[in-house]
Amino acid sequence: MTAPVHHITHPLIQHKLTLMRQKDRSTSNFRTLMNEISMLMAYEVTRDMPMQLVEIETPLETMMAPMIDGKKTVFVSILRAGNGFLDGMLNVVPGARVGHVGLYRDPRTLVAVEYYFKMPHDMQERDAIVLDPMLATGNSAVAAVDRLKETAPRSIRFVSLVSAPEGIANMQKHHPDVPIYTAAIDRELNSHGYIVPGLGDAGDRLFGTK
Ligand code: URA
Repeated sequence: MTAPVHHITHPLIQHKLTLMRQKDRSTSNFRTLMNEISMLMAYEVTRDMPMQLVEIETPLETMMAPMIDGKKTVFVSILRAGNGFLDGMLNVVPGARVGHVGLYRDPRTLVAVEYYFKMPHDMQERDAIVLDPMLATGNSAVAAVDRLKETAPRSIRFVSLVSAPEGIANMQKHHPDVPIYTAAIDRELNSHGYIVPGLGDAGDRLFGTK
């Protein structure tokens, strides 16, 4: 069975995404919106996180109260645009660890080649939340999750801001066990591999490199 695609349609997320899509939005504004959306998406992606009861003291009495164990979460950023998700996600799950995956596409073979991979130890005890704002062809996402699976995390989820149908299909073909959380499923990829209508190059817009 294929894991679900969670299309997050919360009005706050949709409104902010519309602002981000506008081509004249400044870099700092784009980054601020990305931060705000990340916090809201963290809320959705952590919805069914395991909780445990811990004993606490209120001013009135002792009680067993639910808590999530943030230390068991690892956010895995696919460089470089995935870093745009990190600040917002870490704001709401401050105990989480962070891993990074760097991949580039070999211009000759078009195969994703890894240039960086750094995860926390004890991945077997962690729930991994993989971050990439744009799920376009899905080739980097598939390669990143392939590599991540070698570390055997307890679970894997994938979060993107905008997805193309082609990227979702690619992920579902190679990683049917990984649920996808996305704020938009756009029309298609263009001949340059950009999502249309999309929002352009997320890395360039986040870091002001164009
Ligand atoms: N990466 C981006 O940043 N934007 C796209 O539209 C596709 C891939």
